Amino acid sequence: MQLLSHLIRAPALTGAVAPSSQFLARAMADAARGAGHIVELGAGTGAVTRALARQHPDATLTLVELQPALARRLARSFPQARVVGQPAAWVLDGYEGDVAQAGTARPALAAQRAASLPRPALGPRADGVLGRGDGDDGDDGDDSDDSDDGADGRSGRIALVSSLPFRSLPPAVHAQTRRAILDFLTRHTGSWLVQFTYAPRAPFDAGPGFRWMRGRTIVANIPPATVWTLTPAP
Ligand SMILES: C[S@@+](CC[C@H](N)C(=O)[O-])C[C@H]1O[C@@H](n2cnc3c(N)ncnc32)[C@H](O)[C@@H]1O
Repeated sequence: MQLLSHLIRAPALTGAVAPSSQFLARAMADAARGAGHIVELGAGTGAVTRALARQHPDATLTLVELQPALARRLARSFPQARVVGQPAAWVLDGYEGDVAQAGTARPALAAQRAASLPRPALGPRADGVLGRGDGDDGDDGDDSDDSDDGADGRSGRIALVSSLPFRSLPPAVHAQTRRAILDFLTRHTGSWLVQFTYAPRAPFDAGPGFRWMRGRTIVANIPPATVWTLTPAP
């Protein structure tokens, strides 16, 4: 019901009439296996988040959700997670490998951001962080090129798990989000994107340097959805 009211208010951003089913949520979480850090993009009502938290209790969890009411609800429901109420592209561009940095803008990006995306109405913090989570793994903040297990045994690999509605996002937001995801996957060796789509083709054109892999199709979802993963091409 909550997603439906957001669909009416912000149809291009919400992109779905119903929250992801538990079957789709489980399939998305399955595709994040092996990650030590999970960044969920467009966490919405938390349907996928619940599966991620259940199936990957040892991974740090960063939840990104643009709509303030949904972001606040996520912060209440998932106190173990860092919740950021900013556009996904901003968070990915500011992600320095340490969950404590997620959502904190790098100065060089400020002008680009101001030019391309409107600043949403955020919570009390200017950096959009609503829930602090307990996910700081105490590392040195440099996970780039770090695909080995850390001293705590947690993999340094990062899975981006996205419910972003690429087919309905406004063109400028689509382009900036796509660019930020591809940059992120290039910067963080061993990272990958998990994305579902309702269409019978890959979620978006990633270009020749990347490879989409088609995963499971969940027919017990309204509408049926297919899980895809994206990695840099070998
Ligand atoms: C399909 S809905 C949520 C799906 C979610 N798995 C659920 O079951 O509730 C997509 C979500 O992405 C959010 N969103 C859209 N564009 C975004 C952006 N650029 N950055 C962050 N979140 C965004 C919307 O506010 C919406 O909550």
